[in-house]
Formats: sequence, C-alpha cells, structure tokens
Amino acid sequence: MGVKKIFSGVQPTGNLHLGNYIGAIKNFVDLQNENNDCIFCVVDLHAVTVKQDPKILKQNVRETAATFLACGINPKKSIIFNQSSVSAHSELSWLLSCVARMGWLNRMTQFKEKAGKDKEKASVGLYIYPVLMAADILLYDATHVPVGEDQKQHLELARDISKKFNTDFDAPEFFKIPEPLIQKNFARIMSLKDGKKKMSKSDPSELSRINLTDTDSDIINKIKKAKTDTNPFPTNTNNLKSRPEIENLIGIYSSLSGKKIDLIFNEFKDKNFSFFKEKLSELIVEKISPISKEIKRLNQDTSYIDKVLQDGSVKAYELSSKKIQDIKKKFGF
Ligand code: TYM
Repeated sequence: MGVKKIFSGVQPTGNLHLGNYIGAIKNFVDLQNENNDCIFCVVDLHAVTVKQDPKILKQNVRETAATFLACGINPKKSIIFNQSSVSAHSELSWLLSCVARMGWLNRMTQFKEKAGKDKEKASVGLYIYPVLMAADILLYDATHVPVGEDQKQHLELARDISKKFNTDFDAPEFFKIPEPLIQKNFARIMSLKDGKKKMSKSDPSELSRINLTDTDSDIINKIKKAKTDTNPFPTNTNNLKSRPEIENLIGIYSSLSGKKIDLIFNEFKDKNFSFFKEKLSELIVEKISPISKEIKRLNQDTSYIDKVLQDGSVKAYELSSKKIQDIKKKFGF
C-alpha cells in the first residue's frame, strides 16, 4: 500500500494519559515510522470550547508537544504544530459549518456527554466542535486519521461533510473521504476505578487514570488500587464483558506488551490478581517511565519546544494555504 497522508490531533488540556497513548499517540509513532506523511496537531482551538486559563493553556500546548516528542514523534519526519497558529483551520471551520447540517450535529453523542444536563449553557463552539475537526482533516487532504474509539462518530461526520461538499460543488474528488484508523482491540481504555467509564483527563479522581507524567511509584500505587473483583483470573473471554475492570486491565497489558489475549489468559491462569497487577505495573513503568522523564526534561526546554512548533506551523501553513484558496474559489469568493 502507498504512502498514507495522516492527520491527527490531541487537545492541550493537561493530564495526557495512558488512554491517549494507547488509543492514539502510540499509533502516531508507528505510522510515522512506516514512512507515511504525518501531521500531528495540538488542537488548542478545540480546547477553548470550554473555559481555559490563558497562561495554563500556553503551558499545556507546550506540554502536549513535549509529549508527542517524548513518545517518539520526530519533527524531522512529521509535522508538529498548534492549530491556532494556522488561521486556515478557523476559516475552513466556518465554511464547513455552512455545509454540515444541524441534524448531523444533533446526533453527536460526545456533545451530549460533555454538555451534560444543562446544554443551554454549553458554548456554541462545543456544539460545532466536530466541524472544526473535519476542517483540520480536510484541509490537508488527509487519507487516514488515527484516533481512539471515542472519536469514531466525529470521523463519520467529517466523511459526511466531505461527501456533501463534493456533491454540492460538483467537485467529485475535491475533498478526500478520510478513513479512521482505530485499533481493532482495546481502542477505548477505561477508568481504573470504573470499567464502564472511559479513562479521561477530566475525571476528578487521579486514581482513575495513569498520566504520562506519573512517577513509577504513582503508577504502582494506582494499579494497586485499580478496581478488580473477587473472582479468579479469567481463562477465556466468556463473561469478560460483565467484568469491565478486568477486561480493561488485560487490555492495557495486551496493548503494551503486544501479547494476544489468549497468551495472557495462559500466563496468569491460577495466579491471583495481586500477581497480575505487579506484572502490569512493571510493564507500564517500563513503557511510561522513559516518556515521563523525557516530558519533564523537555518541559524545561521551552525554547526548543517553541522552535519545533514554529517550524511545524510554517510547514502546515504552506500546505494549507493553497487548499484554502481553492476552497474559497469554490464558494465564489
Ligand atoms: P482528545 O484530545 O480528547 O484525545 C486525543 C486522542 O486520544 C484518544 N483517547 C483515547 N483512546 C483510548 N482510550 C481513551 N480512554 C481515550 N481518551 C482519549 C482520542 O480518541 C484521540 O484520538 N477531537 C479530538 C482531537 C482532534 C482530532 C482532530 C483528532 C481535533 N481535530 C482531527 C483527529 C483528527 C479530541 O478531542 O481528542
């Protein structure tokens, strides 16, 4: 298969966690190392759909870029930049919001979850957030978008917007129809405290997630306190769905070790959960500790991070400026 054009984004809202790593960033690195054309964006315009402290936002933008680098994204191979530095994202978002339909946005489950009970008080930005996401992707003619399972519906919307634009403007190939790249197994990492809730930056409980900046002892402690049950370690997938916390821990183990789930059943049969948890923490420490140390080191080197973002923005600007001109021509501007 030829070179894929990859685009993906991560919000700079602090506390990047194991879910972001397994569901998204780890795959970014693999796709980069398979020599695809990759663009990875710190989506700061998405972050302001809920109130942010401007000073903290700036730090979080840098820390998200530092996390990309620490996980193995190489600025010589991939473009790393922040969304607000390339104005074509906002411009295209407006234009696409005139293509997308209210009915499509009304179906978005993430808006319903994030807006909560009082959706009248949610920002308009939060509502049209998936349109900005479509703009990010379509602006660079991305063919493939690596994301966690929670972004699947937004990707479907981006595809619908792309198709409608191409039909409305009688330009069949103008926008690409982007393909989501979502892992087959364990594409949604769950909270360590509640296997029915996704691991999330916004969960008030620190014990619910492993942050990518956690120390070894934080990791060991959080896994020790992770919810399990009193039944023995499973030997097959029967009934695993009714034990979501166990399924999740096994999923984390499988994703980080690359071992198939059957092998894991075999490895831990007749063992108790404390033994499994010990091995799981060792594995997480082995994978996350170098990342955590590197994020902390890079956080001190703000001029390097700013330079990476600046260089990336120049490249992203060059790639997007021709496309946005062509799009504006289509509208008759
Ligand atoms: P964000 O910042 O919420 O999450 C970044 C990436 O991490 C994945 N993810 C997870 N994967 C597995 N388990 C979890 N518990 C988990 N939590 C988060 C997300 O699926 C995502 O891939 N709207 C996007 C950012 C965005 C974007 C884009 C993505 C903006 N423009 C264009 C792709 C293409 C978001 O808020 O991701």
